[in-house]
Amino acid sequence: MNEYLRVKATSAGIDNVTTVAASAVSLPLVDEIADLVVSNYCLHELRHDDKLRALAEAMRVLKPGGRLVIGDMMFSLNPMHARDRQVVAVKLAALARRGPPGVWRLLKNATRLVSGRWEYPANASWWDEALRQCGFDRVRVEMLAHEGGIAIAQSRSASAAAGCCELRPVAVDAAGGSRGFSAEGARSDYGRKEHAPTTPQSGPK
Ligand SMILES: C[S@@+](CC[C@H](N)C(=O)[O-])C[C@H]1O[C@@H](n2cnc3c(N)ncnc32)[C@H](O)[C@@H]1O
Repeated sequence: MNEYLRVKATSAGIDNVTTVAASAVSLPLVDEIADLVVSNYCLHELRHDDKLRALAEAMRVLKPGGRLVIGDMMFSLNPMHARDRQVVAVKLAALARRGPPGVWRLLKNATRLVSGRWEYPANASWWDEALRQCGFDRVRVEMLAHEGGIAIAQSRSASAAAGCCELRPVAVDAAGGSRGFSAEGARSDYGRKEHAPTTPQSGPK
């Protein structure tokens, strides 16, 4: 990925780009250095408590007034929410249209879901609550026509937001969310598969 980015930047004539591989929950950047943090289709890979840690890291590295933009799948498997029902129904219909390969994919996903190895998308209300809880201002979450959504927020100073993320779980989703974690273990190694969660986790919502 780094090499791909480097080549793309070079071919576009951009020579002030540095690429590093690191975990979203432990950015190798000093405080208040960034004007903009963008995450594209990454955070659904993280369990909810690590999403909050990633938001805390974004807040830490952003300059006051800096912008956070998250594009990701934004839905949960909560049948109580109309949009969630619609997203799941569209996905099921698309898989069904593919015939046996679609059914096979559905079975594989169901197995991963049941065994806790599926992805961890969160819905708009979770993101809205999480961003506010982490001390972001001007929070806006927009749903796209498909499963995706875009969350945009502005940072306050890290000291103003200190401690916001680590102490409280986000519990906006009736079907559950991250629960009862503490500041300990807020740094983890890169990648969900290598990262042993510090507390029991709930599955995708
Ligand atoms: C669905 S891909 C999206 C890749 C790319 N952002 C794009 O839009 O095409 C999800 C990516 O998140 C990365 N990822 C998973 N856990 C991560 C973490 N803790 N920190 C940073 N990246 C992570 C995976 O390695 C993978 O490359």
